[in-house]
Amino acid sequence: MKHYLQFTDLTASQYAYLFDRASLIKKKFKAYEKHQPLTDRTLAMIFEKASTRTRVSFEAGMYQLGGSVVHLTTGDSQLGRAEPIEDSARVISRMVDLVMIRTFEQTKIERFAAHSRVPVINGLTNEFHPCQIMADIFTFIEHRGSIKGKTVAWVGDGNNMANTWLQAAKLLDFKVNVSTPSGYEVNEKIAVSPGGISTEHYQSYSDPMAACEGADLVTTDVWTSMGYEAENEVRRQAFAAWRVSAEMMKVAKRDALFMHCLPAHRGEEVDADVIDGPQSVVWDEAENRMHVQKALMEYLLLGRL
Ligand code: CP
Ligand code: NVA
Repeated sequence: MKHYLQFTDLTASQYAYLFDRASLIKKKFKAYEKHQPLTDRTLAMIFEKASTRTRVSFEAGMYQLGGSVVHLTTGDSQLGRAEPIEDSARVISRMVDLVMIRTFEQTKIERFAAHSRVPVINGLTNEFHPCQIMADIFTFIEHRGSIKGKTVAWVGDGNNMANTWLQAAKLLDFKVNVSTPSGYEVNEKIAVSPGGISTEHYQSYSDPMAACEGADLVTTDVWTSMGYEAENEVRRQAFAAWRVSAEMMKVAKRDALFMHCLPAHRGEEVDADVIDGPQSVVWDEAENRMHVQKALMEYLLLGRL
């Protein structure tokens, strides 16, 4: 049994398989062709934070694979009334085949997984968002081919997305240039320990323009992630110079792509002419969540087909 709690839980060869598989699954979806290897299987989705894309992509994806879903939130389950996470894991995993969790600390999903009889998927924690990075890399491959040796510029918060980009760069052999305001740096200990990360795969810049120079992909995220709302005002001031602009896109490669995991705030972390401009692939990126996660769910339950 295999869990998917962070990007490093799969190998480069497993990702290569999953990207091929996602491409096939997407083609079938576009052709209205049935693909139902998970008939009679059930996915439980546990949300302790809000979601649009993660909920819709997992729920629609599981139904399309022939299965069904159970949707739980903190507010309408015993999770919100302090039932221990270990007990919840034991109970839920006796009744379903797969569990997706969106929660706060990574340790929470790890405790759940340690007591689960079925595979557990990380649908976002404070530390990581592996399904999103899988979709982002799949989207890059669709538009530009292999990401190996390419450069991704991360502009903004050193958050769950940034941590996961670092893990992916190390594993799939590309480079991430990171620029964050001071005090909001990526925590390398969380992202890439043990073993650290070399300068071939990661470089940090105080100037966001410098991070974007020559990049194949420029990407950002909200200034305030879920759970940090109390810092909203302070962050708005600290991040003012980290808005992805047309000028930043200009110093990147001519054919550089722009990505954002969404939801986006135009005029904060990105200018409208960038996210709504010709280099932006954010809608493909959002749609691809569903295709890669269908490949992932199939793989965790049935292995290579
Ligand atoms: N990108 C993403 O995970 O979106 P949601 O918060 O809407 O699920
Ligand atoms: N970093 C953001 C991503 C939202 C999909 C958050 O954690 O809120």
